[in-house]
Amino acid sequence: MARVTAGIATSHVPAIGAAIDLGKTQEEYWAPVFAGYEWAKEWIKGEMPDVVILVYNDHASAMMLDIVPTFALGFAEEFEPADEGWGARPVPTVYGHTELAAHLAEQLVIDEFDLTIMNHMDVDHGLTVPLSLLFGQPEQWPVRVIPLAINVTQFPTPSADRCWQLGAAIRDAVAAFPEDLKVQVWGTGGMSHQLQGPRAGLINPEFDVSFLDKLTDQTDELRKITRLDFLREAGSEGIELIMWLVMRAALGEKVEELHRFYHVPASNTAVGHIVLKPRD
Ligand code: DHB
Ligand code: FE
Repeated sequence: MARVTAGIATSHVPAIGAAIDLGKTQEEYWAPVFAGYEWAKEWIKGEMPDVVILVYNDHASAMMLDIVPTFALGFAEEFEPADEGWGARPVPTVYGHTELAAHLAEQLVIDEFDLTIMNHMDVDHGLTVPLSLLFGQPEQWPVRVIPLAINVTQFPTPSADRCWQLGAAIRDAVAAFPEDLKVQVWGTGGMSHQLQGPRAGLINPEFDVSFLDKLTDQTDELRKITRLDFLREAGSEGIELIMWLVMRAALGEKVEELHRFYHVPASNTAVGHIVLKPRD
């Protein structure tokens, strides 16, 4: 049987990817950011999953505004890094897991999540920066990845609670997959940030730390956060935190926090990172 063995959440700031690609990780500005990922980089070597279900958002890279799926499941054999305006990142092709993706598509639609199936999709910094943060610069990514893109860029976005329910359905679907696979679920984006408008640069550490604190065992409160709460408290891009709730729900009721990191700022964003493990 497949099982969800751990969950990871992390911000996915594009400048972090550029710092890695351009060899700047030890510069004064960046060194404290990358230091926050050393623990998880070591930990995952002993906990290597077969597959990562990577819950992220596309930033009008693969899905321009002519098509806006609420939930888009990557069903391709491989996914190329997207060209986000400066050429594609020099990172490996992402290989999918079509058997588990097909099973997820079937189970989640049966569970009344009306997914969009992506038979072709380039993946942007929302997906590749977290892979770089955890795995560095390998020739090939050491895991298969099933991308699951959530719309957070165009209103109407799904609610926090809907994302929670999706995560719970993912947990059930993984548990019903007959092959013996170790699966991690990752949620990327956040924490507080706003990239545009009069409040550009907004960061709210109180909100972020409270979100991290509640992620282990006060999740009912996080499920109630509204779109307007996210906008007011965490800035226009703070809504990316709904991807973290998919990850958290996929771990089941009781979890243990193994590691956390919080740092302000990287580019325009409060960087948050947490590693959680289901308690049996
Ligand atoms: C930044 C953060 C993001 O999450 C993103 O998608 C783009 C830019 C930033 O802080 O620059
Ligand atoms: Fe983003």
